[in-house]
Amino acid sequence: MADEGKPLIVVAGATSKQGRSVATSLLESGRFRVRALTRAAGSAQAGKLARMGAQIVTVPPEPGRHGEFVEAFRSADGAFLMTPPVAPPSTAEFALGCRLADAAVEAGVGHLVFSTLENVRERSSGAKYAPHFTDKALIADHIRTLPVAHTFVMLSFFYTNALEYYAPRIDGDTVLMPFYLPEDFRAPFVDPLTATGPAVLEVFSDPASYVGASLPVVGDTVSPGEMVEAFSRVTGLKAEYRDACSRNGLLTYFPELGENPLLVDEILGMAEYAVEFGYFRHDRDTEWSRRIDPDALSWEQFLRRTDWRGERVSFGR
Ligand SMILES: NC(=O)c1ccc[n+]([C@@H]2O[C@H](COP(=O)([O-])OP(=O)(O)OC[C@H]3O[C@@H](n4cnc5c(N)ncnc54)[C@H](OP(=O)(O)O)[C@@H]3O)[C@@H](O)[C@H]2O)c1
Repeated sequence: MADEGKPLIVVAGATSKQGRSVATSLLESGRFRVRALTRAAGSAQAGKLARMGAQIVTVPPEPGRHGEFVEAFRSADGAFLMTPPVAPPSTAEFALGCRLADAAVEAGVGHLVFSTLENVRERSSGAKYAPHFTDKALIADHIRTLPVAHTFVMLSFFYTNALEYYAPRIDGDTVLMPFYLPEDFRAPFVDPLTATGPAVLEVFSDPASYVGASLPVVGDTVSPGEMVEAFSRVTGLKAEYRDACSRNGLLTYFPELGENPLLVDEILGMAEYAVEFGYFRHDRDTEWSRRIDPDALSWEQFLRRTDWRGERVSFGR
């Protein structure tokens, strides 16, 4: 198909783990054009996407430049929207998500796919504090009010958290793996770098079937204890679970978090929420992503694929 005949999809946050996965899957399918939005067109990730055939468009870093945001979405058929990590007390995530969605609608985009999460405040009747979940749910509520077809994907906990944010400590010949979840608690996990793309590609391949849907993306349901065991089996290294799901445990392994007590509250609130209420609402179809992407990586396959041996990894742009 000539390029001009292919639907154009805007990927906001295209250099993010989720965004680069989406841009890559859409381009590799050969059925879509991709416009990749970034605040830094000169980054290595933006360069990679450009070489794959994406159009790179620079968006302003600060709020209040609505016209430029609208232009970034102009003449697109669809858009994938994600919001970056935002630590409390900042509440910028909600405003950013709404700003992206409003600009896309004003530009006439036909179908929005937003990466959301559950409303923790509502599900826990206000008992648990995890604004980076709740704010995404509120952005989704805002999108539901807009005159645009929309679909939501809901990513599980990222495998990459253990490599990027909660990296192990080496103690002699043992890899100590601090987890923000209890050792025996099975939770949904996923590789955002390889699983987000296939899910979003499926939606844009058959958009009418997914209007209004909220779709969990799951690679594995596994406990930290099982993750440590698999790590040992795959790498041949001695490894032990360490508790980073109590305030003391978290601050023992990640003392730098102590500088932001609200962020500590949020991490603990998120973990308590997942344990007490379940990461996903119980009526979600947690098998959908496996059906449309049977090759989605389990934790063990992720370890084999990445050759990760416990070092800290940066996934920055
Ligand atoms: N970690 C988990 O377990 C987990 C699970 C489910 C959902 N999530 C959610 O996933 C999101 C993070 O996704 P990710 O890890 O794929 O992202 P990421 O790799 O951390 O990348 C964030 C991207 O967002 C863009 N960005 C940063 N600040 C921005 C701003 N102010 N305005 C516009 N763009 C900005 C950056 O792109 P440029 O610099 O190129 O502009 C950057 O590449 C968070 O909202 C998090 O809550 C995380």
